[in-house]
Amino acid sequence: MSQQHKMRSEQGLFILFAAVFLVVSYFIDADYITYVSHFIRKKYIKNSFQNKTIWVIGASSGIGEYLVYELAKENAQRVIISSRREEELERVKKASNALNSKCEVVIRPLDALKSANEATANVNHEIVQRLFQDYDDIDIIVLNLGSSQRGLAMDTELSLYSAIFEVMLIHITLDYK
Ligand SMILES: NC(=O)c1ccc[n+]([C@@H]2O[C@H](COP(=O)([O-])OP(=O)(O)OC[C@H]3O[C@@H](n4cnc5c(N)ncnc54)[C@H](OP(=O)(O)O)[C@@H]3O)[C@@H](O)[C@H]2O)c1
Repeated sequence: MSQQHKMRSEQGLFILFAAVFLVVSYFIDADYITYVSHFIRKKYIKNSFQNKTIWVIGASSGIGEYLVYELAKENAQRVIISSRREEELERVKKASNALNSKCEVVIRPLDALKSANEATANVNHEIVQRLFQDYDDIDIIVLNLGSSQRGLAMDTELSLYSAIFEVMLIHITLDYK
């Protein structure tokens, strides 16, 4: 093989490798570590959520919503879902049931910010108390709720940052006693 021919086939291989790398990166969102961990876990740790009850707070959209679907697919026994928008929780419950009707989805709406206010803190206290009375076997609680803003700092009211900060921290004060 001539030197020129060899260089061309090496270039071809490199371009093919780069193209495959880019396509794979696109589909796995460039997150190789998560992808490999997930692959290994699925292969060796089957049904790790079977017979488990998981409470996901912030389950009406985004990461929390898709976590509910993954838990249903992983045969969780029960997923309790919370957030403020009950109609969105109903939608998530329906979609989860369509994936696996054996995974029970329980809706318990709550606004975590009510815990921050003395006048309303009791509302969440009662919701949490009732939940633990109904289900005393909760294995995992996922505190996923939160909010963010994507505008420029100079265009954003300080009060919005204050609200974001509050919702990101306040959930840890939910009264679990
Ligand atoms: N997406 C990302 O790239 C990313 C990156 C780093 C960190 N995070 C964090 O991961 C978490 C989830 O992110 P996401 O992108 O999935 O956000 P998202 O789609 O906005 O979901 C936030 C969830 O929190 C709930 N929530 C907000 N305020 C609440 C309150 N006062 N009481 C009860 N529930 C409340 C929302 O439901 P309701 O509106 O129905 O209450 C919703 O279910 C957030 O904490 C976010 O900051 C996200």
